[in-house]
Amino acid sequence: MGLRELADNDEFARRYRERLDSIGVAAVRRGFHSISGARRSFCLNLVGVCSSYAIWTCPAGTLGSMLVAMGGAVSPHLASGLKQELGLVRAVETGTYRGWSARRLARVFPRVVTIELSPQLHQTAMKTLRDLPNVECRLGRSVDHLSELAHERVPTLYWLDAHWSPLFEASAGEADQCPVLDELKAIGPGDAADCFLIDDARVFCASPRPPYDPDHWPTLAEIFDTIRELHPGHYLTVVSDIVIGVPAGAKHVVDEFSRHPVRHWPPAARLARYLLLGVLRRVQRWAGER
Ligand SMILES: C[S@@+](CC[C@H](N)C(=O)[O-])C[C@H]1O[C@@H](n2cnc3c(N)ncnc32)[C@H](O)[C@@H]1O
Repeated sequence: MGLRELADNDEFARRYRERLDSIGVAAVRRGFHSISGARRSFCLNLVGVCSSYAIWTCPAGTLGSMLVAMGGAVSPHLASGLKQELGLVRAVETGTYRGWSARRLARVFPRVVTIELSPQLHQTAMKTLRDLPNVECRLGRSVDHLSELAHERVPTLYWLDAHWSPLFEASAGEADQCPVLDELKAIGPGDAADCFLIDDARVFCASPRPPYDPDHWPTLAEIFDTIRELHPGHYLTVVSDIVIGVPAGAKHVVDEFSRHPVRHWPPAARLARYLLLGVLRRVQRWAGER
C-alpha cells in the first residue's frame, strides 16, 4: 500500500489508534507512573527545556516556513473549488511574504496579484516567483492597492493575510498589525461572486497575547459584520484557521473543504499530521486523567 492509500485508509487509521492505545500510550503512562514524583518532574522539565531549546534555536524564518507548510498557506483545493463554482478569474493576496501562497494560487488562477509592504520581502518574492508570468508582485500597503483592484469588478478570490508576525522573518506592519477591516472596506461591494479567505482565525476568536497588540486585531464578530454589510448574501464561517466569506450558492464547496481541510497536503505530510494529532490527543487524555 502506498503512502497516499495509507493516509486515506480508514482501516489503517483504526488499527493505528488501537495500537497506540494498546502499546504506545499505555507504555509511556506506565513508564511515567513508575518513576517517583521528583524524578518525574525532572523528566518533564528536561523534555520542556529540550523542546524550548529546539524552538529557540530554530531560525524564525525556518519556523515560519514550517508553520506555513503545515497549513498556514492558502488551500489550492478550496480555491479551485470556488473558482469552478463561481467562475472566479483571479486571486488577490495581501501579505506576499516569500510567495508561497502566491505560487499555490498561480496553479489555480490565470492571474494572481500579491501585495507586500516590506521592500526586502517584495524583492525576494519577485525573484522566487519570476518563473510564474501570471503572478504580479506589488509593493506597498495592501489598502492602497485594493480599491483600485476591486474597481476592475471581476470575480476574485481574496486571500487576506497581511498580518504582522514575529515568527515571519523581516515581517513588516508592526505599527498596524492586522489591517483586515480596512482591507474589506477598501474592496467594498466589488463583484457579487467575490470570495474572502482570511488567515489566522484563531487570533480573531481570542484576544492575542504579547508581542501582538490586541487593539490592532478585530474580533471575529467585527469581521463578520463588515463582510455582511458589504455582501449581505454571503455565507460566513470559520474552517481550519481561515475565516471564510463566500456567496451563499458556494456553501457546499466550503462544506466539502471542511470535511477534508488537508486534502491538498502531500500524503506523507497528512500521515505525519495524523500521527502527531493522535499522539497529542492521547497526551491530553493522559494529562486529564492525572
Ligand atoms: C503572515 S505573512 C504572509 C504569508 C503569505 N501570505 C503566505 O501565505 O505565504 C504576512 C506578510 O504581510 C506583510 N504585511 C504586513 N502588513 C502589510 C500591509 N499593510 N500590506 C501589505 N503587506 C503587509 C508582512 O510583511 C508579511 O510578509
